[in-house]
Amino acid sequence: MVKIAPSILSADFSKLGEEIKDVERGGADYIHVDVMDGHFVPNITIGPLIVEAARRATSLPLDVHLMIENPDLYIEDFSKAGADYITVHVEACRHLHRTIQLIKSFGVKAGVVLNPATPVSSIEHVIEDVDMVLLMSVNPGFGGQKFIPGVLPKIREVKSMADRFSTEVEIEVDGGVNAETARLCIEAGATVLVAGSAIYNQSDRAKAIAEIRGS
Ligand code: DX5
Ligand code: ZN
Repeated sequence: MVKIAPSILSADFSKLGEEIKDVERGGADYIHVDVMDGHFVPNITIGPLIVEAARRATSLPLDVHLMIENPDLYIEDFSKAGADYITVHVEACRHLHRTIQLIKSFGVKAGVVLNPATPVSSIEHVIEDVDMVLLMSVNPGFGGQKFIPGVLPKIREVKSMADRFSTEVEIEVDGGVNAETARLCIEAGATVLVAGSAIYNQSDRAKAIAEIRGS
């Protein structure tokens, strides 16, 4: 069954712990944390301090999505703050293989992220080294944007690349995921779906998660 990773970007930060516990009770599999630096993307969000607070609020895996330049400088901090997965954008990494090894050196699962316009071929040489491939289905920076259907063939491409290398990766899709677009992603082979506004803008989070999962 597809895993659901609510993005806390759309949560009420004045009661973040409660917001995280609410989706945990509602059946979430991971907690997705969007880190933005105002350089790689035109928005600034949160740092290791909030990841550490999230860590205290839940036992679910924390899926930390770094939308930052020079991620190498902060990987140790996010690892120590309690990240279970750290994903980095290929567009932000000059030495992608080195960055992946750095993440793994802290005992954290490593993932790579592709913007909508970045081809899947760019990760062919690291596909055997990563635990997760995150495909953006919006241009990163903000919650609540519209799903870009061009990601769907990319989901299939990642799946066939992983099969070709006989390796297993989580295929996560992030941006504009709701009950309707989730169906298309699942059909294409996604194994983890991130959803921010489609979950946190609803009062019944358990229902929203079940609808996205299609259960
Ligand atoms: C976008 C972030 C997403 C965002 C998703 O830059 O990476 O994780 O929170 O939000 P929705 O589900 O509202 O598109
Ligand atoms: Zn994200």
